[in-house]
Amino acid sequence: MRILVTGGAGYIGATAVDVLISQGFAVSILDDLSTGHLDAVHPSASFIEGSLLDSSSLSRALRNCEAVIHFGGKSLVGESVEKPDLYWNVNVLGTRALLDEMQKQSITQLVFSSSAATYGAPTEMPISELAQAKPTNPYGVTKLAIDEMIAQQSSNFDLSAISLRYFNVAGALESSRGWISERHNPETHLIPNLLKSTDSSPVKIFGTDWPTPDGTAIRDYVHVVDLVEAHITALKVLEKGKHTIINLGSGRGYSVREVLNSASSYLGRPIPHVDTTRRPGDPVSLIADISRAKEVLAWVPRRDISSMVADTAKSFEIA
Ligand code: UFG
Repeated sequence: MRILVTGGAGYIGATAVDVLISQGFAVSILDDLSTGHLDAVHPSASFIEGSLLDSSSLSRALRNCEAVIHFGGKSLVGESVEKPDLYWNVNVLGTRALLDEMQKQSITQLVFSSSAATYGAPTEMPISELAQAKPTNPYGVTKLAIDEMIAQQSSNFDLSAISLRYFNVAGALESSRGWISERHNPETHLIPNLLKSTDSSPVKIFGTDWPTPDGTAIRDYVHVVDLVEAHITALKVLEKGKHTIINLGSGRGYSVREVLNSASSYLGRPIPHVDTTRRPGDPVSLIADISRAKEVLAWVPRRDISSMVADTAKSFEIA
């Protein structure tokens, strides 16, 4: 079975490609390399460099595929506030083009990389898929618009689809080709920033006055390999004409201070940091209710925060 992985040269996409190929799937990749890396492209995959909005690349990429795992898109909350049109064009119009071309080529199976950003800042924790979706930034708005578009495509044209709403993805995969890891520029994510922190450029802790036990914000971290495994299971449980939304997290929250302590204990030294004001747009707490993932995918995350820290550190060749 051949699968198109959009965004297969990015962090999560490249990890997925590696696991898919190791499990015997044939893979095609469509990636415009705007944030992905050519050296992350698996040598056994068929690679088309191009955008979802380029119809000839898209139609070539879909050829002979039976299913699509759609990671491709823009994913920085801060950037989305500055460039909402870019996010709408790439994410929403790009996915519209993908759905249309899939329909044209009679490809009916889709797993989509959605986000907890669709929920916004709900007050009830943990967050179930039934929580009201009220995104607080353009990135979340685009992911929600896509989920809704996919739902329509399922009911109108029998698309079989699952949207996986990620919480905070972390960690890395050691593949036969070396580590596949986060390489964002600029890096905004907590764990890489903690591990790369130095005396001359200390990591900033965004807010120590949150209404939480230690005053720092709480997030639900999930290992990228656990996350990818959930996608492969999702492919296997797709139902004709049905669209299902499923949260992917670990089901428990860690404060920024707890993650800092975990990274510090892995490194065996204190991590230089400065306490600063809250980052605009950050919610206080995001924790997933993962009961639907357990039920529908028979999935439970197996890797904890310390292995996310350890794998990220090893992939960066730190300690
Ligand atoms: N943080 C710091 N210092 C840093 C980086 C982060 O204190 O240098 C804090 C943030 O303020 C937040 C927590 O660490 O409280 C996690 O921040 P990340 O930037 O690692 O992740 P976010 O929770 O902001 O965002 C992630 C994904 C988004 C997704 C969101 C929704 O990156 O794509 O989760 O769950 F939209």
